[in-house]
Amino acid sequence: MTAIPKDKALDSTLSFLREGYHFLPQRRKRHHSDIFQMRLMGEKAVCLSGEEGAALFYNQEHFQREGALPRRILTTLMGQGGVQTLDDAAHQHRKALFMSLMTPGSLHQYSTLVAENWRAYLRRWEQLEQVELFPEVEEVLCRAACAWAGVPFEEKDIKPLARDLSAMIDAFGGVGPRHAKGKLARHRAERWVGKMIDNVRAGKQYAVEGKALHAISWHRELDGKLLSTHVAGVELLNLIRPIVAIGHYVVFEALALHEHPRCAEMLRNGPAQYPEWFTQEVRRLYPFTPLLGARVRADFEWHGYRFRKGTLTLLDVHGINHDERHWEHPHLFRPERFRDWNGSPFNFIPQGGGDYAHNHRCAGEWLTIETMKTAAVLLATSMAYDVPEQDLSVDMTRMPTLPASGFIIRNVRAAATAV
Ligand code: HEM
Repeated sequence: MTAIPKDKALDSTLSFLREGYHFLPQRRKRHHSDIFQMRLMGEKAVCLSGEEGAALFYNQEHFQREGALPRRILTTLMGQGGVQTLDDAAHQHRKALFMSLMTPGSLHQYSTLVAENWRAYLRRWEQLEQVELFPEVEEVLCRAACAWAGVPFEEKDIKPLARDLSAMIDAFGGVGPRHAKGKLARHRAERWVGKMIDNVRAGKQYAVEGKALHAISWHRELDGKLLSTHVAGVELLNLIRPIVAIGHYVVFEALALHEHPRCAEMLRNGPAQYPEWFTQEVRRLYPFTPLLGARVRADFEWHGYRFRKGTLTLLDVHGINHDERHWEHPHLFRPERFRDWNGSPFNFIPQGGGDYAHNHRCAGEWLTIETMKTAAVLLATSMAYDVPEQDLSVDMTRMPTLPASGFIIRNVRAAATAV
């Protein structure tokens, strides 16, 4: 049996919070190994990196999700009883509900809603002296998300809802006030969607068949029962919250266009696949999900290493997207690299790996890609703007992170040649 390389620190929780996205990749380098162990939040954690490590992590014979997510994530980002916490048949059944909403027609509908709402906001941005792109894009996405999901809203609801969904996302790497804000936001949002679901079930609220609100309200578990109001609300938020999270990637798209003006020209006049390559490279290069967690189902051995039942196991998501064994000059922004990407489900995992139906890979990955393609083309072709002097640095120790200024633009004009 080979010993798993061990971190010397008594507990690495504080280092994780201090080092952020660098935490696991730096330790992989330090140990010269795709497997190493440490203590995190008072317990032993085995960390896996590399394509082979990802393939192992997604092997459900060996790993389960039950009991893997810390309470602080369940009470803010994800909610309790959601699809992320399920395994086996219960997971597959719930996941099928999500995937049934991701048809090509439905994705197209969402992108169209994004473009329509973006253009409406653009008319307002033209009147403003300056615009902070991040909160504005979150609002655009939130409006489009509610319309797409069949969630009714009043005009006055959108700003606070977008802020609450944003606070839940922002809480995942935060402690103290950030965590408290995320928890309160979840509490409010769960109450709001819970009431809506009860009203749909009581016939007091119309829900459009085929849209998320209807599908989730009437979804039956394997035992034939409807989801509890609470879990149904958690799942509805599992759709509209992460759509708002795409705002982070859209701001990184704006940053990439600012830093690589050649890409804007390619989006306007390059090959038809260019928006997809650009989107993929933004998802690869810029940080979002740092890591994922699972627990060992039963003792097993892998390459001579022993995994013991119940052990917390972490996957180095950010490190795998920057692994120099798969990505030449991984820290350079090169959309064309995706022309030749081999499509492996384990070497490019910004939204998880493996397969959609059986693994926990992100149910909204296709929707994210379509939204980002739409936003990239809108930024490059439908509007012109100036990027004034500001702090565009991206703090890699903060999770999640963004350009410090939120990306400020000025002198916004709708482009004459808008698509
Ligand atoms: C799961 C990231 C957008 C819905 C996940 C996972 C990650 C992720 C890392 C976990 C994978 C795993 O545990 O193996 C992201 C990022 C997004 C995004 C970075 C964009 C910024 C979306 C969107 C939706 C969505 C737009 C829905 C419209 C879900 C759901 C799951 C999930 C339902 C749970 C899947 C399961 O447990 O089987 N996402 N996601 N996500 N995501 Fe996303």
